[in-house]
Amino acid sequence: MKKIVVLTGAGISAESGIQTFRGADGLWEGHNVMEVASPEGFKKNPLLVLDFYNKRRQQLLMVKPNQAHQALIELETHFNTTIITQNIDDLHERAGSSSIVHLHGELLKVRSSGGTDGTDDETLDWRKDLLLGDTCPNGYQLRPHIVWFGEQVPLFDKAIEITEQADILIIIGTSMQVYPAASLVNFISQNTPIYVVDPKPSVRKNDFNNLTIIEKTAVNGVPDLVSKLIANFPR
Ligand code: APR
Repeated sequence: MKKIVVLTGAGISAESGIQTFRGADGLWEGHNVMEVASPEGFKKNPLLVLDFYNKRRQQLLMVKPNQAHQALIELETHFNTTIITQNIDDLHERAGSSSIVHLHGELLKVRSSGGTDGTDDETLDWRKDLLLGDTCPNGYQLRPHIVWFGEQVPLFDKAIEITEQADILIIIGTSMQVYPAASLVNFISQNTPIYVVDPKPSVRKNDFNNLTIIEKTAVNGVPDLVSKLIANFPR
């Protein structure tokens, strides 16, 4: 089976009702990103940060995967498919995709703020509000299992390994502005076809060999792309 790697960003979840990060006002749900998504912000005002992610978690539990998330499952019947997502939502999981790497962490998990970098066995599933005073067994405050600005991306090496083996790369709904995630595209082999689905794509026609840009929203562009790939690439 050919290997497909799908790199997704906030744009794939936009039509489910989750706001993207870099909208016109440059704010994330009304906040300066560094205030709510950095270790310094958490140290300065833990209550604000916990409250911010509590609201994001509550919102996530009310929305559903859209046709773009769902279409990606069909790829699995035909290709060895891995999704590398920058999103902290669980919409790929709920849609039914089976191989997902969450580069920037997961909103429905928490971990101790006592010095771990959050490898999977150190996380707890968490669907309710996270409060000041919710602690790990060693007494440290629990924090969202999110990779904040300035923190290491523990799954990046794994993501590189997966990307290097891609026969086809699909990029959906990311502004490709946040590193190291955005640099993954440089790890594909030369001439690997790349398909970008984004109504305002940040890559241009000449940036890569073999690049196809589909200037559509995820819901309008991904199902068609999936059908074409299944029809055009022999198993
Ligand atoms: N369908 C597809 N793409 C869309 C849609 C849509 N309906 N709506 C918007 N987009 C595109 C935008 O044109 C933009 O290119 O989605 C992209 C969203 O970009 P960002 O808001 O920058 O989100 P993302 O690239 O995922 O951000 C990366 O930044 O704040 C951090 O850690 C956070 O994971 C996040 C990272």
